[in-house]
Amino acid sequence: MILVTGATGTIGGEVARQLIAAGQKPRLLVRSPEKAKAFEGTAELFKGDLDDATALANALKGIDKLFLVTAGLDGARLEAKAIDAAKAAGVKHVVKLSVAGAEYEAITFAKWHRGNEKKLEASGLAWTFLRPGNFMTNSVMSADTIKRDGAIYSPVGDGKSALVDPVDIGAVAVKALTTSGHEGKIYTLSGPVALSTQEQADIIGKAIGRPVKHVDVPPEAARDGMLKAGLPEGYVNALIELYGVMKAGMTAAVSPDVEKVLGRKAGTFEAWVSRNAAAFK
Ligand SMILES: NC(=O)c1ccc[n+]([C@@H]2O[C@H](COP(=O)([O-])OP(=O)(O)OC[C@H]3O[C@@H](n4cnc5c(N)ncnc54)[C@H](OP(=O)(O)O)[C@@H]3O)[C@@H](O)[C@H]2O)c1
Repeated sequence: MILVTGATGTIGGEVARQLIAAGQKPRLLVRSPEKAKAFEGTAELFKGDLDDATALANALKGIDKLFLVTAGLDGARLEAKAIDAAKAAGVKHVVKLSVAGAEYEAITFAKWHRGNEKKLEASGLAWTFLRPGNFMTNSVMSADTIKRDGAIYSPVGDGKSALVDPVDIGAVAVKALTTSGHEGKIYTLSGPVALSTQEQADIIGKAIGRPVKHVDVPPEAARDGMLKAGLPEGYVNALIELYGVMKAGMTAAVSPDVEKVLGRKAGTFEAWVSRNAAAFK
């Protein structure tokens, strides 16, 4: 039995959908069964919070494989609890969503993830680490300004990112959860090419039939905007660090791992945009 966390989110949702499409009936640990209604009947919905030790222990009963993802400021702490609970429950294999560059521990996101990678390495559990770069779906965060101003505001200059399609991350996770030979493996997951934000804007513009421009903003302005939008300060600081790394061109590396695991090419940004163009219109 496979337990998926984060099924109401981007990657956990992909993993759950693709496991079901592959004939599995996973258990999904969700805080809100209402939000997970689409999975009713095809998955076992288990209502619980990762921060609730009893719920977590019950959700893990009879589980041999765990797909572990959380988000936000508290994610690292929650994942650490889930790893301890998985070990106590006799789970065999944990597939953990991490981040590209975790090994350098250079920025906050990398430190959070590497900390829990190390915890898994020391746990005696089998593990697989998925280390994706920036998700293509992040573009949706600019949907409002694309609609309003025909613009993406982002403090990353000409820095390129080898954006990865969450569908590919989900597909690699499903391989790791349902086929053998992925224990102790680290997969760095990227798209097939690195794109600057203006190149991404051009692709979106072509799909929606009007030009989109990238407006490079100073990090301080980006910081103020995110704080005004209500994001917690610690999270905003971590994002500003990440933008600095992106601007410096350190998120541009293209990895062969999606193709190595799936035996097909990684999805392109053009293909992702054509499936999701409605979000920008
Ligand atoms: N975005 C990127 O470009 C990028 C790149 C590389 C790595 N990552 C990593 O990817 C992860 C985020 O993945 P994502 O985008 O799929 O996240 P997401 O869409 O924000 O979803 C997060 C999921 O975690 C669940 N969750 C949060 N707190 C929980 C709790 N206390 N108990 C139970 N469930 C809880 C949420 O449930 P609710 O629906 O109830 O809130 C949601 O289902 C992070 O670790 C991030 O560092 C992101």
